[in-house]
Amino acid sequence: MTGTMTSDLPINLGPNQAHPNRGHGLRRDDGDNDGNSPVMTGKRPPAKNTKLPQLLRVITKTLTMKTVIVTGASSGIGQGIAIAFGELGANVIVNYHSDKKGATDTLKKIQEAGGQGYIHQADVSKESEAMELINKAIETYNGFDILINNAGIQMDNSFSKMTLDEWTGVIDTNLTGQFLCAREAIKHFEKKKQTDTCKGNIIFISSVHDLIPWAGHVNYASSKGGILMLMKSLALEVAPKKIRINAISPGAIATDINEEAWSDEKKKKELLKLIPYQRIGNVEDIGKAAVWLGSDDSDYVIGTTIYIDGGMTLYPGFVDNG
Ligand code: BGC
Repeated sequence: MTGTMTSDLPINLGPNQAHPNRGHGLRRDDGDNDGNSPVMTGKRPPAKNTKLPQLLRVITKTLTMKTVIVTGASSGIGQGIAIAFGELGANVIVNYHSDKKGATDTLKKIQEAGGQGYIHQADVSKESEAMELINKAIETYNGFDILINNAGIQMDNSFSKMTLDEWTGVIDTNLTGQFLCAREAIKHFEKKKQTDTCKGNIIFISSVHDLIPWAGHVNYASSKGGILMLMKSLALEVAPKKIRINAISPGAIATDINEEAWSDEKKKKELLKLIPYQRIGNVEDIGKAAVWLGSDDSDYVIGTTIYIDGGMTLYPGFVDNG
């Protein structure tokens, strides 16, 4: 992990983020790319799940045979999204930085649900590692269809105490990492043959803090604000090439990583004041939206951010004020 964690504010990790002290940090390399041996599945038959409700069957049809790369998929939101795609029959590449066990669990759940894939260690903020992640997926599955750009970290501090390492650490992973993976994905999508629907699809996992300023988290909010314009400008640039770019911005989503904020009743009460819908989100809330945005059912959705936040972006202070 770059930087020291000597802030006067607690290290506040988001649901899609890794805690440096839990061995989930996104800055340590174990250089281990072995994972489980990838299986060549380019020609496998569509998943048969007749028990699925009608709408899910439509999405299943459009997702089966698709190959998806999910960065930061060893825990939290990334893990939830990876499993949601696996359940619908996609091939899923489970990227992780340090938490190999978490990535293995993700893959196991994908396989138990009938999906397939492999795990791949890579620090997405390093150009060569991001390139290897994308290229290996292309080689293994003879191309891929969807990139879920999810990996992200928080290294919080009050502004005057924020170190350069805390600034660059967060920007490098959250913004540069998303740029690098997107660029490699676009290179591949551009080479694909034209089809009826899009040739490739990228979903940026951002945050409500691409809109809501966040004191004590200037590096994090800046990275998410950057993703908003990265996503929109890229969407504009590649839409004529039939490549779709969108974002999902989650609010407070419960995972074991931010457990402290919702398992303590007093803190949970404070958090709920910021959520008009009066519940904390869960990773399934994000997974369901991601599979729809990744499917051809959302083919006409371009350059949009879906806020999945229980209304957090609606200025909750105005409920009984103003
Ligand atoms: C952060 C969470 C936070 C949520 C709402 C997310 O981007 O990762 O830690 O609870 O925003 O503030």
